[in-house]
Amino acid sequence: MASLPDNSAPPAIEVRDLVKTYGGVTAVSRVSFTVARGEIVGFLGPNGAGKSTTMRILTGCMPATAGHVTVCGHSVATQTDEVKRLIGYMPENNPLPEDMRVSEYLHFRGRLKEISRKKLGPRLDEALEMCDLKKVRHRIIGTLSKGYRQRVGIAECILAEPPVIIMDEPTIGLDPRQILVVRDLIDSLRGRMSVIISSHILPEIEMTCDRVVIINQGRVVAHGTPAQLRRDLLGGARYELELAGPEQGLPALLARVEPTLKIVVTTPAADGFRRHTLTSTNAAELGEPLLRAIAADGRLRVRSLARAHPTLEEVFLAATGQNWDAERKSA
Ligand SMILES: Nc1ncnc2c1ncn2[C@@H]1O[C@H](COP(=O)(O)OP(=O)(O)O)[C@@H](O)[C@H]1O
Ligand SMILES: [Mg+2]
Repeated sequence: MASLPDNSAPPAIEVRDLVKTYGGVTAVSRVSFTVARGEIVGFLGPNGAGKSTTMRILTGCMPATAGHVTVCGHSVATQTDEVKRLIGYMPENNPLPEDMRVSEYLHFRGRLKEISRKKLGPRLDEALEMCDLKKVRHRIIGTLSKGYRQRVGIAECILAEPPVIIMDEPTIGLDPRQILVVRDLIDSLRGRMSVIISSHILPEIEMTCDRVVIINQGRVVAHGTPAQLRRDLLGGARYELELAGPEQGLPALLARVEPTLKIVVTTPAADGFRRHTLTSTNAAELGEPLLRAIAADGRLRVRSLARAHPTLEEVFLAATGQNWDAERKSA
């Protein structure tokens, strides 16, 4: 198993100019990205964006139309068997046999993955422990909840300790509590394995990922750390300010703090207070100077001031000019 990330080694996953067409339909169009060793990358995109297609090609389950994909330096096209041994893959809607017991199924999969009989016992215990499945190890899979089934899929993924884990929508159909469990589980793989996880729900895995790759209509529209994307695509900063008192002098006061600071929306709040949304093209933190300037004015009363944390939906809108939700509904 890959322990510490080795910078001299080839990246865990390298995708260059990947193209996939189904008949006349282009599902993936010149997609390029890399996943470094030990990194957890979120592969985000609305339904139909091309996530599952890309993942099936990465795992050697389906050939690409054009482009180049390597896993730990091995070409998926020409060294497919080697690549399959390097990967733990959980497909979308991972089908599991309904009538097998959890440990029986994992044992069977472990043998298929060519784990020796001697190693398989301890490895199975370890995977069951990591996925918190010990108490259901003798249960029939068909009787398990969706959350447990998803964890059986993840246990199978990590069983042979592959250096690369590919999970296609592992949180789909889970309730918020189960999503947290899966997120923690993925987080526990950090530094031990390289992981790429897809999701069509933007905030769901953002916190777990070192980096995200956002695709739309078969093309990469943004990639980087969530913080980088916010900075590069949205720039500046936004603040929410609740204020009471004579506001005529407010624009001039804001301009003295930062010339690009503007009031963009004002809505009445209760008790004479009004809520203002301020934007600035300057990303520097302006909270403290703003509070100081308002206090110095003497007549304005501040009830709250907070810097807004833009969502990845806003990043997506800035990158594509399309609304994430609209895209999902039409897909
Ligand atoms: N087997 C297939 N045959 C034809 N078109 C397909 C097939 N699989 C996927 N597509 C199309 O390719 C595009 C990308 O699909 P997919 O990779 O499943 O996206 P995602 O996983 O992001 O939802 C969609 O337009 C989808 O309809
Ligand atoms: Mg999919």
